Amino acid sequence: MATHAWLFSYIKQTLHTMLYMINCKPDYKKILQDRQILELYSHIDDAEKAPWAKHGMEHILRVVKNAKTLCKLLKIDKNTTFLTIIASILHDAGATEGKKNHREKSAIFAQNYLKNAHFNETDAQIIVEAIRHHASANPPLGLVHILLVCADKLDCSQSRILPSGYGVVGMRQSQFIKTIKLKMKSEKLFILFKVSPHFDKTEFTNYYFTKLLYEALDQLSKQKRVNCEIVFKR
Ligand SMILES: [Fe+2]
Ligand SMILES: [Fe+2]
Repeated sequence: MATHAWLFSYIKQTLHTMLYMINCKPDYKKILQDRQILELYSHIDDAEKAPWAKHGMEHILRVVKNAKTLCKLLKIDKNTTFLTIIASILHDAGATEGKKNHREKSAIFAQNYLKNAHFNETDAQIIVEAIRHHASANPPLGLVHILLVCADKLDCSQSRILPSGYGVVGMRQSQFIKTIKLKMKSEKLFILFKVSPHFDKTEFTNYYFTKLLYEALDQLSKQKRVNCEIVFKR
């Protein structure tokens, strides 16, 4: 009986590896619908004692959307796009007990999750390191890392912030950002912030989080040799 179980597991693993090698990689939508992932992110917004911003599924879906848009506009290759989307899905999975050490916890969770999902070691390592260092794109660890940081930091409009964040200098400006859209025009990447009349650009651009976004976009423009411009429109 034990031999049968071992044989079944061996065949299953070999099939997964073969499918992965011929590029039948797991569908990221299946990971997004995975009960374990849904369950985990459903508790994350409740875990933070004084949450200023969301880290649950709504945030993840917006980061995935940002990652997909960036990859499409910059004509990023299929594999890098796939790895960036998976990193986006898993990047805050370790925030189940609040934001403290959540990057390291998310990296450990991702490492185990990707192993169980039969990702190859090289791909898993790229995703895990991008997640471990998603606070900043400096120093850059590669395109997946830079894209993840950009996609994450671009989620800073009014849908991200919670009422407890309205009193935090810098962050409170997010409540006046209605939408953030990405557009490619004449080989230039435009990040268009639609803001309300109360928006204070100086306060927002001096906020440490915004500086991290600018830094990540700067790394992206260096890597992809594309100019990025941030535009604020009332
Ligand atoms: Fe995070
Ligand atoms: Fe995040």
